[in-house]
Amino acid sequence: MTWTPDSWRSKPAKQQPSYPDPDSVAQVEKELAGSPPLVFAGEARRLRRQLRDVAKGEAFLLQGGDCAESFAEFHVDTIRDTFKVMLQMSVVLTYGASLPVVKVGRMAGQFAKPRSSDVETQDGVDLPSYRGDIINGIAFDAEARVPDPERLLRAYNQSALTLNLLRAFAQGGMANLEQVHRWNLEFVDDTPQSERYEELANELDETLAFMRAIGLTPETVHQLRETDFYTSHEALLPGYEQALTRVDSLTGDYYACSAHMLWIGDRTRQPDGAHVEFLRGVENPIGLKCGPSLDPDELVRLISILDPENDPGRITLITRHGADNVADHLPGLIEAVEREGLDVVWSVDPMHGNTMVSATGYKTRPFERIVREVQQFFEIHQAMGTHAGGVHFEMTGQNVTECTGGAVRIEEKNLADRYHTHCDPRLNASQSLEFAFILADLLKQTRNGTSG
Ligand code: PEP
Ligand code: CO
Repeated sequence: MTWTPDSWRSKPAKQQPSYPDPDSVAQVEKELAGSPPLVFAGEARRLRRQLRDVAKGEAFLLQGGDCAESFAEFHVDTIRDTFKVMLQMSVVLTYGASLPVVKVGRMAGQFAKPRSSDVETQDGVDLPSYRGDIINGIAFDAEARVPDPERLLRAYNQSALTLNLLRAFAQGGMANLEQVHRWNLEFVDDTPQSERYEELANELDETLAFMRAIGLTPETVHQLRETDFYTSHEALLPGYEQALTRVDSLTGDYYACSAHMLWIGDRTRQPDGAHVEFLRGVENPIGLKCGPSLDPDELVRLISILDPENDPGRITLITRHGADNVADHLPGLIEAVEREGLDVVWSVDPMHGNTMVSATGYKTRPFERIVREVQQFFEIHQAMGTHAGGVHFEMTGQNVTECTGGAVRIEEKNLADRYHTHCDPRLNASQSLEFAFILADLLKQTRNGTSG
């Protein structure tokens, strides 16, 4: 079957907003189609090449950011702090496990949210669910919840501004390894992770001083002075993605130019559905969320549609079963992928299978469960001879209280203090750093295990 950028339109699409005026959506999509791409094909190809190293076990994928970006929380400080925490995590992993880290933000486009219910009920009142700022408003009033196509343009513009900052942070000096102490955020000071991080940063200083003495400095070695930072989001709205799809003049291939990497959510991965149809035709690296309802045969079928050439780096499987379910589900998926000889990146999202509601009514995620899912992910891959290639997680550089636990000991009674997320609960900066040290230890153990 031939693919075109709009061939998805003849397939059923789940989780789509019902706009009151479809003509105005078409108008907006036309405007987006005439607007500049946010990313370039060559960048997406470069990420795909780096993910190939991840598939081989020669690099590690760190993919994180907000559950949902919002218009209200759009601020240079928020973006800078998330970026700093990603850099910290990355240096902990690179230094601790001697592996290159491929950094991908859930940023600059992560706006649209799939919902488990079409309606939200509060005090006996039913309204359409909030679906992310790119679609409707979070306020619980009837007018805010009407999907508004103008929001597509605002999300596009905010993504462009965010990307502009990220590019400047990645290449304009902030990512210079000599700045490693400055990535520590103030509120993380005086925590055990912060001390551990400072120790590591001091060791790194010594290494850099040695390198400087032999002539390798940030001025001469670009890897010391800048980094690659990629963007990604869930491709929930194929109309928006189609409008930002461009033909690469070098190769003649189609690329979705809204982000470097796009993923398909656990609720929209039907093999005959619109989302799979759209993504099979663009050459970006593609993520696929794999939850408990995905069976091994269907996974094999999905990979054969999305990656018929079996090209490592094309597909990242993001498994998200939950700490109590991972042992039941993951081995079957790995077995099927191995049996078929498919080359994929295995990443774990330890967030979405571990969401619960606190006694006080907040959606939360216990840190201990997040860690337990990741530990099992590593153990299972090691036992089966495959690579635990990466993590996909929801975090922020802000001092929020959304996930319980961690060394900072957030308890259920603290959740109300600084609960700011527009959708799911995120790790805060100190929980993220703690998570990175745990990951580094797991990676070290696995690597020692495989080599010894
Ligand atoms: C998400 O990543 O925010 C999300 C909704 O995940 P999933 O599709 O895995 O439920
Ligand atoms: Co989420």
